[in-house]
Amino acid sequence: MSNTCAIAIDGPSAAGKSTIARRIAGEFGFLYVDTGALYRAIGLAAVRRGKNPKLPQEVLPILPGLELKLAYVDGVQRVFLGGEDVSEAIRTPEMSMAASAVSAIPEVRAFLLGYQRELARTHSVVMDGRDIGTVILPEAKVKIFLTATPERRAARRYQEYLQKGVPAEYDQVLKEILERDANDISRETAPLRQAEDAVLVDSSDMTLEEAVRAIKAIVRERC
Ligand code: DC
Repeated sequence: MSNTCAIAIDGPSAAGKSTIARRIAGEFGFLYVDTGALYRAIGLAAVRRGKNPKLPQEVLPILPGLELKLAYVDGVQRVFLGGEDVSEAIRTPEMSMAASAVSAIPEVRAFLLGYQRELARTHSVVMDGRDIGTVILPEAKVKIFLTATPERRAARRYQEYLQKGVPAEYDQVLKEILERDANDISRETAPLRQAEDAVLVDSSDMTLEEAVRAIKAIVRERC
């Protein structure tokens, strides 16, 4: 009998999932698992090898040789690809699009499924992604669907890029968010959607603190 508790936070790109999930994990002493980083690392591996991340016939042959791992350094998730820490390299607009492209390939999703479930079996987790409540952890005790308008999400992501010194333009960020939404919602395997038993949190007009408080109250009730 497992005495772990899983919290699934799904939603579209740049809704604030990672910031909020990290805060909730910190408050409850749970492991924060950013599953998007896994898809980003596969996107990065494909692009670095000159492969088109949209084409299964180019991406699938590289999967068996990938040594992909999440590690936790002082409680902070780092992503390793063949021993190299790629945590920063995966955070560019190009890798966002590459991640979205590889994530539509069913075999890529299958490749990552067991690893994500294993993390939740062995730890209490706050896991963020697109299909955590629907596919990866359908039994999660808490399921949150976190969303916000595309314009709010684009403005937040644009600020993040500025702070990190990643060159970006607001209009382009908005365009890419809309494109990723369309990809993530329309793909056949594990599309982005709210699980029936998920609580909808629309953060468009909420501060970070308000969203964290709302989700903490739900976690306290159920974990
Ligand atoms: O959360 P993120 O922006 O880092 O995710 C990058 C892409 O990976 C996103 O556009 C869709 C995909 N993804 C997914 O399909 N399923 C997940 N659980 C997490 C991310």
